[in-house]
Amino acid sequence: MSLLEEIDKIKLQVEAFAKENAEEFRLEFLSQKGKIKSLFGEFKNVPNEQKKAFGQRLNELKEKAQEKFDELQRSGKRQTQSTISEIDTSLPGIPHPLGAKHPINIVKNDIIQIFKKIGYSVSEGPEVEDDWHNFTALNFPEEHPARDMQDTFFIDKDPDIALRTHTSSVQVRVMENQKPPIRTISPGRVFRNEAISARSHCIFHQVEGLYIDKGVSFADLKQTLLYFAREMYGAKTKIRLRPSYFPFTEPSAEVDVYWGLKTETDYRITKGTGWLEILGCGMVDPNVLENCGIDSSVYSGFAFGMGIERQAMLKYQIDDIRLFFENDLRFLKQFVSLT
Ligand code: DAH
Repeated sequence: MSLLEEIDKIKLQVEAFAKENAEEFRLEFLSQKGKIKSLFGEFKNVPNEQKKAFGQRLNELKEKAQEKFDELQRSGKRQTQSTISEIDTSLPGIPHPLGAKHPINIVKNDIIQIFKKIGYSVSEGPEVEDDWHNFTALNFPEEHPARDMQDTFFIDKDPDIALRTHTSSVQVRVMENQKPPIRTISPGRVFRNEAISARSHCIFHQVEGLYIDKGVSFADLKQTLLYFAREMYGAKTKIRLRPSYFPFTEPSAEVDVYWGLKTETDYRITKGTGWLEILGCGMVDPNVLENCGIDSSVYSGFAFGMGIERQAMLKYQIDDIRLFFENDLRFLKQFVSLT
């Protein structure tokens, strides 16, 4: 093959080079040991009258190869760049910010866990209630002044329907539908027609507790509540029971935990006594048992009810109930739950 034919052959190879690899191309054609360089080495062997034509053709080939090399380099760079901007699987992922549980839910779950450990189930009932379940069955006779203890949102069209003022309505529903022994707690939202302030809100949450069996006594109630207070507020927590009145329990009591009198705030929030009220309780009134179809000569039981906001305020030392309903992220982000 003549040298000119050799040049044409290599020119075709350059044009047909199909790989996208600039470095491989350079090694094959343009490097010191590449095909084009070796053709330049043949220059001295070309007869003088052919040197001009040979030189021209060879230079054309070299330029063509150089162009092809530049193009391969450019497209190689474009490729690596675009791969990086699309996906680099070696980079750490972009974290999605996690939300936190609302403090009311955290405390509600804490209370549920505490009572689950001693065999209580969880029951729920409707937020829109009838008069029977919210009042009458619970021994609030019609026109009785005890109804004024709880300012109620009634429905204009039907005086028999109201937003429940307490979760005690759920104990009526449970007793109507289950046979003793009954051991249940009922968490839920309740509504009262009250002015909103740092201490009270028109919507809040309660947990109701109910235990009905043969021979349940006030001592059982007291021990159960002591267990609860110690699980919730610490193993050394002290409680006291003060006589009180609720239509659905007899006798009735309110339970305080000992908070202490170390700081000025302690004096203010405990009104100088060192004690803070956490819940109401009592032995279920026999009238209530009978209203719900349970024989009060065979069964007795206790009930208790507590505000979840109140427990949360004590636990986290929050002094304004309105904070729970404003959904300010700066407030909500501070609560971490492990459950
Ligand atoms: N239902 C009462 C309230 O909302 C709380 C309560 C007190 C519930 C005593 C009880 C109880 O079951 O025995 O104020």
